[in-house]
Amino acid sequence: MCGIVGYIGSKEKTINVLLKGLERLEYRGYDSAGIAYLDQNQIQLIKKSGKLNCLEKSVDRNLLTEMGIGHTRWATHGEANEINAHPHRHGKIVAVHNGIIENMNALKKELEEKGISFVSDTDTEVFVALLNDAFEKYQDMKKAIEYTMSKVEGSYAIVCFNEDDKEHLYVMKKDSPLLIGVGMGEMFVASDYQAFREFTKKYVLLDDFEYGIIGKNAWHIYKDGKEVEKKLEVLDEQDILSNKEGYDCYMHKEIYDIPEVLTNLLTFYETKEIHSIPDYCKYNKIQIVACGSAYHAGCVGKNLFAHFAHFPVEIEYASEYRYQPILADEHTLVIFVSQSGETADTIHCAKKIKEMHIDSLAIVNVYNSTLSRLTDYVYYMRAGEERAVATTKGYSSQIALFIVILREWMKAKNTWTVSLEEQYQEGKRKMLQVIQPCFKNFEHFSWISNIISKPMNFFIGRQSDYALSLEASLKLKEVSYLNSSAYAAGELKHGTISLVEKGTPVFAIATDKNTYEKTKSNLMEVKARGAYVILTTLDTVDQEIDVDEKIIVPDVGALFQPIITIIPFQLLSYQVAKSLDLDIDHPRNLAKSVTVE
Ligand code: F6R
Repeated sequence: MCGIVGYIGSKEKTINVLLKGLERLEYRGYDSAGIAYLDQNQIQLIKKSGKLNCLEKSVDRNLLTEMGIGHTRWATHGEANEINAHPHRHGKIVAVHNGIIENMNALKKELEEKGISFVSDTDTEVFVALLNDAFEKYQDMKKAIEYTMSKVEGSYAIVCFNEDDKEHLYVMKKDSPLLIGVGMGEMFVASDYQAFREFTKKYVLLDDFEYGIIGKNAWHIYKDGKEVEKKLEVLDEQDILSNKEGYDCYMHKEIYDIPEVLTNLLTFYETKEIHSIPDYCKYNKIQIVACGSAYHAGCVGKNLFAHFAHFPVEIEYASEYRYQPILADEHTLVIFVSQSGETADTIHCAKKIKEMHIDSLAIVNVYNSTLSRLTDYVYYMRAGEERAVATTKGYSSQIALFIVILREWMKAKNTWTVSLEEQYQEGKRKMLQVIQPCFKNFEHFSWISNIISKPMNFFIGRQSDYALSLEASLKLKEVSYLNSSAYAAGELKHGTISLVEKGTPVFAIATDKNTYEKTKSNLMEVKARGAYVILTTLDTVDQEIDVDEKIIVPDVGALFQPIITIIPFQLLSYQVAKSLDLDIDHPRNLAKSVTVE
């Protein structure tokens, strides 16, 4: 989603820092980009629709200027064209924005009645016009900011500057992340520290309703008119900067990262005592709240708790949870799952739970992200930077953390038996042993042309195989744009089977030994109606079954099986997208960090 960069400091560095920062934020997903800087005391704007290289071609990298702002835009209000691209300017002020101004129509009307006209369809332009109008009235940026913040509703991370003040950048924050990178004689501003981590490891995190004035040697942050003291954070070195390392795209590379990520993660949580563990005995209910693939990882977690701990877990999409009555109390643990830790819907739910003083735990990847600071307990995924929009190693590490939490939970309740510990150790050993050879086996599916060009793909499974079907289906559609849906295997016959015709691809995932025979019957039902059936099952079950294709995965035991079973589907999605020559790491319309509702 939108990425913000700002810089004040060395005139030789400004343009380079802005473009580098925008490159580092590309992974978030965007459809236009732009920069603004001061040249001969005048604001200059360069904006382009499309990818960053369109902007880069129009920018003179040798240009000398001490201050600038940049933006990658993921369209919310108005088409992804040059006019709607950020930065936006009104009068003396130019700004970039991440978030959504919810009362833009009312504000726009008020400003239009004063004779102010607008060129774009964006809510950002309304914000800038309001700020400029306030500046014209008060002739003081701080007062103008305070007035503007009191008028706007919604979410915003804003960086702006005033044409008449080449000494300062101004920032404002509510519900969208914003950080100040602190250098020597230079300052950075960004929506994510990836944008400036090459230049400084020190940063300050802004909290909601804070605003600031940033000079090249000092920053001042305010809230409600008063200056606030801020803690200087230092970037965690375990959060290693990622590059493609010879792979053709990040998604492919990140799938191959999985074994190392899991080895490190499991070792860390088995040996380190430093993370603070909730008093699990206190809870009689778990609620899992997440979005997208993180929700699908939660579905696997729910299954693990049902089958191993016989403990009921509720799971909800964050976008739904936040609008329903919260049926939780002091005996409930709410688990939020999020790779980025910045997903707006998830953050809103975490804030609500915090206000209600209900215990919360985050499974999160990005260190010091908003979610990690809102919850009582944090289990870092330790997956390293994930740059492909479609999550792979992130999803796998979320599942691994559910296994870690299940083990801790059952140990706390004295229900983790010797035999379960043996299953865990043996499952982990096998999983880590077979995962590399799996990559080789599933690196080339000869039959993918049979699914490309079909109007619909179905994924079916039961229990954890159903949870995996949800993720396999999402992965395929997001990177390859092939239409696909996942169903609980037993549900197909209650309506959807009417869509199955000759050649319709149906992926049946049947690795759960308890339901294998039942899923087998369901796939025979679709086979009888002409479906092209691709069965995924274990190397330890009887595979004498008449299907079109088989994906045989090694049996590593029920605890760790989901981690292995999803691998062929991650690789399949990558292969299909590659054969269709698509932009695998940046699928159209998608964003890595979904910071709007
Ligand atoms: C799909 C994908 C998304 C995210 C979802 C939540 O591959 O990555 O569905 O899982 O947008 O994002 P996080 O985990 O950052 O909260």
